[in-house]
Amino acid sequence: MTVKLKSRVASALSGACALLLCPAPPAHAQTPTVDVTIATDVSGPAIDRNIFGQFAEHLGAGIYGGIWVGKDSPIANVRGIRSDVVTALRALKVPNVRWPGGCYADEYHWRDGIGPADKRRVRVNSNWGGVPESNAFGTEEFMDFINQIGADAYVSVNVGSGSPEEAAAWMEYMTASADTTLARERAANGHPAPYRVALLGLGNENWGCGGAMSADHYVEEMKRFAHYAHNFNPAQHDQGAMKRIAVGWDSGKSDYTEAVMKAWSDKVYSWDIDGVSLHNYTVGGWPPHLAATGFGIDQYDDVIGETLNMDNLITRQSAVMDKYDPARKVFLAVDEWGAWLAPTPGSNPGFLAQQNSLRDAILAAVNLNIFVRHADRVKVANIAQMINVLQAMILTDGPRMVLTPTYHVYRMYVPFQGATVVPVAFDRGQIVHGKLTLPRIDAIAARDQAGHLWLSLVNIDPEQGTSVHLGQARAASGEVLTAARVDTVNTFTEQSAVAPHAISAKAGPHGLVLDLPPHSVAVVQVEM
Ligand code: AHR
Repeated sequence: MTVKLKSRVASALSGACALLLCPAPPAHAQTPTVDVTIATDVSGPAIDRNIFGQFAEHLGAGIYGGIWVGKDSPIANVRGIRSDVVTALRALKVPNVRWPGGCYADEYHWRDGIGPADKRRVRVNSNWGGVPESNAFGTEEFMDFINQIGADAYVSVNVGSGSPEEAAAWMEYMTASADTTLARERAANGHPAPYRVALLGLGNENWGCGGAMSADHYVEEMKRFAHYAHNFNPAQHDQGAMKRIAVGWDSGKSDYTEAVMKAWSDKVYSWDIDGVSLHNYTVGGWPPHLAATGFGIDQYDDVIGETLNMDNLITRQSAVMDKYDPARKVFLAVDEWGAWLAPTPGSNPGFLAQQNSLRDAILAAVNLNIFVRHADRVKVANIAQMINVLQAMILTDGPRMVLTPTYHVYRMYVPFQGATVVPVAFDRGQIVHGKLTLPRIDAIAARDQAGHLWLSLVNIDPEQGTSVHLGQARAASGEVLTAARVDTVNTFTEQSAVAPHAISAKAGPHGLVLDLPPHSVAVVQVEM
């Protein structure tokens, strides 16, 4: 692999890297530099905190074992929900959790998951492993879980095998404030007060697992669900009223987005939507076969190269939406994204279990940065998935729990939730690897509601550090996430192989300098 250096070259090796046991560069290596200029007098769009959303599907150990252990479990829990996971998730200030799927949403029947535990219907989870689904985790348990972690509900209703009547009844059960039969049933099940549903998904991938509908057929169904599955609590209509998200983007084709947006532009008074979805996984070909561990720089470069295509997909979807919605009233919800790798050896392949390395952390950071750069259109995003499934925040094994490198990125990015974009100028540089050219550096900046300025810097370069020159700044300090290798992972026995460390800029001859280790993500607060 050859690395094209930028014009200016500094000779100092990264102090942070030395501390963090990065591999020693060759004696002659020189650290590339980049000038980063933050336009502090310019204010961009707000970063909707919902872009830091999560996704918890009834899939593998995503719910059972990962969140729900049951009230009688020896694992510490509150009403059946494991406490170690709740404590860890609270630190992420999770804005919303998408549930119950995924493909599972279009075979979910909400009545199976309410009422006395011993009366709940046990079914087969035919999408994911063909295993029994006990329905022990249903509406009450989900709402309890999101309440414990402080998140909003993003509920997806069953369009594929359900009916508008079923979806409307579920919405009434959850949200009705009037004294209706379903509100009484909710009270009898322990929750007299209405729940709040902040986001409502109108189906899931109905071009595929959600019924394989043509775009036009989906639009006709979607309009009925959008009308009848409404919020039944008038008091919630003003406080950030529930936002409805239709299905868009069919694996590289825009026909759903086109049909949904065209229908929306001609809509009549009785229905509306607020967002359209886009799902995109970084997968390296189907079926997923890329190793989650034990890979080298070649595979790191390929994966990062593929994931950067998210920017192009959002631009293309936005262009379709702009045709019908130039004022950008309808948002894009990237409500499934992340790395989909080969399953963990020995695991049930239907459970989508995979390890999570430093590469995943860098993948997460560059995608979050892409969403931030599209903040005027992307208002919701949900990484797939929260616990034990695909690119997870947390892995569990019985009573054991470990935080993944991706978790740390989400924790480091908390200051960007609800902040205002501040433009940042820098030369991205180039890493040339065969036919593949990657940027070496990525960055975003934003001002939080308290007026603090935050800068995220990603050194994509797997081999070399970078000296970031922050000429105008007075001070910059925060955290950096890196590890010895791009495939380093945290395990139940080695929990902190990838963990954030303190980093601060030092005075240089031409202003402040922040030394980034190779393959690292840094988030710093900057004083100008
Ligand atoms: O996240 C796993 C699956 O990927 C979801 O259930 C589905 O929507 C997508 O195809």
